[in-house]
Amino acid sequence: MAPSSAHPVEACRQHRLVPVIAIKEADAAADLAAALAGGGLPIVEITMRTEAAAAAMRKIASGGAKVTLMAGTVTTPEQAQIAVDCGAELVISPGLNTRVVEWCLKQDVPVVPGVCTPTEIEAARNYGLKYLKFFPAEAYGGVKTLKALSDVYSAFSFMPTGGINPQNLAEYLKLPVVLACGGSWMAPGDLIHQRKFEAIQTLVKEAVATVASLSR
Ligand code: 3PG
Repeated sequence: MAPSSAHPVEACRQHRLVPVIAIKEADAAADLAAALAGGGLPIVEITMRTEAAAAAMRKIASGGAKVTLMAGTVTTPEQAQIAVDCGAELVISPGLNTRVVEWCLKQDVPVVPGVCTPTEIEAARNYGLKYLKFFPAEAYGGVKTLKALSDVYSAFSFMPTGGINPQNLAEYLKLPVVLACGGSWMAPGDLIHQRKFEAIQTLVKEAVATVASLSR
């Protein structure tokens, strides 16, 4: 395995970007991870909504690229177990799935569940969670909603995902409550399918440059 050096949440905080990957071809996974790392983003979320997800995670975990490996779209404890067995260091779910959260807390596996309402944020607080995915970000009001939520829930850090793209990325990143922005725009499925890893790396570099421009 090629383990990452930082805690997965710290890797998210450091890079402020999470490439969300719905991969259909497990044999593209190692090259994909290398393209992400080579573009300055050694971090990846493999969503567990494709048949290839588990095999793809195994290939990334045992591959040469040193990346923080996370599992996304985890909706059952069974999937969380598979993800961890495949090398995932952090579990991300689209909603506040109490079964997934409780399994992860019991197993001491970092978990970032999805929320988009005050009720869900408060339920997450009852579990002692501090890091939450804001999903689906754009459909639920985007930056405006996240800002309103963060005025009240400033103790949380959010990972907005869903509809984020190069045009709206900076606006999210400017919010202090944003841990990292997630999205598929950096490694779209069609580019993975066509094995266009240089094109993926270019998209990654552009996103990394946006992050860098905001920290100057
Ligand atoms: C996810 O799985 O987190 C989202 O589907 C990613 O959303 P996006 O494709 O709009 O970036």
